[in-house]
Amino acid sequence: MQRLGIIGSGRIGSAVARLAVAAEIHVVVANSRGPESLADFIAELGLLASAGSVRDAAEAGDLVLLSVPLTAYAAIPTEGLQGKTMLDTSNYYPFRDGRVPQLDSHGVTTSELVQAHFDGVPLVKAFNNIMSHHIPQLARPVGAADRSALPIASDDEVAKAEAAALIDRIGFDTVDVGLLVDSWKFEPESDAYTQLYLADPDTPMERMPEAPSAPVPATKLQAALARAGRVRVADRKF
Ligand SMILES: NC(=O)c1ccc[n+]([C@@H]2O[C@H](COP(=O)([O-])OP(=O)(O)OC[C@H]3O[C@@H](n4cnc5c(N)ncnc54)[C@H](OP(=O)(O)O)[C@@H]3O)[C@@H](O)[C@H]2O)c1
Repeated sequence: MQRLGIIGSGRIGSAVARLAVAAEIHVVVANSRGPESLADFIAELGLLASAGSVRDAAEAGDLVLLSVPLTAYAAIPTEGLQGKTMLDTSNYYPFRDGRVPQLDSHGVTTSELVQAHFDGVPLVKAFNNIMSHHIPQLARPVGAADRSALPIASDDEVAKAEAAALIDRIGFDTVDVGLLVDSWKFEPESDAYTQLYLADPDTPMERMPEAPSAPVPATKLQAALARAGRVRVADRKF
């Protein structure tokens, strides 16, 4: 995999873009405001990066990272994505995204909802259970003793393997959680969600955006996933 399209250049998209270019992967980055708005970021990333339209990012990548708010995915055109593997970082926060009945009823998981829009484009849920500032803190080279693991899920085994290879190359092991229907196991408030990567697990919510991380090996992530009970999304107030 030589090229990664990135749709959404916010906290997660930019963190993954930095790791990708550090791993010598070409990135084409898109956001909602257009390529000109990305000039400073592309200059920071260097020669392996360019800015483009959403379509440019979709067409350029062997894989494409989708990292936009849940309210925005349905506005992303599917053109240019056929034959690509898409990594989806989406989470559902009702206070931010509004209530989504299919999610509140557990009719689908968040990534199943997104997958339905990108029909025919295999989607892998990834990078949704780690806070953006922990991504650069915890990335390690292949073989490092203190490597962390991230969960992935997909209905397409080939796509899942491609995503795992990308994630490995940019700094993390992966744990295969199964199908998208299983991906509630690492959605918000689950045991395998963002708090797992905190150095201090008792960090109060308001301090989490700056709180330091500690490595989470695959065994620790697997144990958290095994403990997971499904959170009642309809009861969530945030
Ligand atoms: N932040 C975290 O720590 C974190 C952790 C795990 C998962 N997540 C999830 O990952 C997703 C992205 O989160 P984030 O925090 O990275 O978001 P963010 O910082 O708000 O960035 C969102 C990005 O999406 C772009 N965007 C919005 N609508 C678009 C459209 N129609 N076409 C193209 N680009 C569009 C925005 O463009 P502009 O820059 O032009 O506004 C922005 O670059 C969310 O579902 C979030 O819940 C976030």
